[in-house]
Amino acid sequence: FEYGALAGKHVVITAGPTREPLDPVRYISNHSSGKMGYALAEAAADAGASVRLISGPVTLQVPPRVDCIQVETAEQMLAASLDDIDRCDLFIAAAAVADYRPVAVEEHKIKKGSEEIMELRLTKNPDIVATVAGLGAQRPYTVGFAAETRDVIGYARSKLIRKGLDLIVANDVSNPEIGFNSDDNAVTLVSADDEVSLPQASKRQLARRLIEQIAQHYKQSTK
Ligand code: C5P
Repeated sequence: FEYGALAGKHVVITAGPTREPLDPVRYISNHSSGKMGYALAEAAADAGASVRLISGPVTLQVPPRVDCIQVETAEQMLAASLDDIDRCDLFIAAAAVADYRPVAVEEHKIKKGSEEIMELRLTKNPDIVATVAGLGAQRPYTVGFAAETRDVIGYARSKLIRKGLDLIVANDVSNPEIGFNSDDNAVTLVSADDEVSLPQASKRQLARRLIEQIAQHYKQSTK
């Protein structure tokens, strides 16, 4: 691990779930713990970067020297991501963004009715990492994650292309020992022409290896 690998660089990392309100007391969300994103923020700061972490609701401590912006919804996460994009060199999207949000947020608590079936209308959330990757010439080097249960590399590679990313971290979440909520992870870093497997390790250790690899790819791209 190289302590100066990201010296002078500004890194923005999204982490955790988003929370999409239905009414003042209810929301749609997911089980993301934020551990991988927070570990990446810590590793990027250790590599010398200035780090902004844009975090959905999680119960983790913000690592030292990391500037954390707390958000709830995907729309807030997108706005925060674009907020200092001009000075962003490297954007890493580790958040588990809700794909859909309720069409309307009710002002008052939705009351239980007599009907057995209740239908919710949902609308698609913006794709944050694809928006950032599509910003044009001034865009930061952009890294996404792909949590998959089968054909992990294949789906990750198609996401890399579809979203216009520079790198994607492929994560097999069918294995309960790694991925969502667990302390360990194992991933494959996929670029347009290459694949690097990083074996199972604590998310903290793995984050340091990932930041090392990402910094190397990023340097290559700016040569
Ligand atoms: O398409 P999928 O959700 O599997 O893609 C995962 C990647 O895209 C992750 O890097 C995630 O943070 C990012 N993403 C996003 N905004 C969304 C959905 C996913 O930034 N609305």
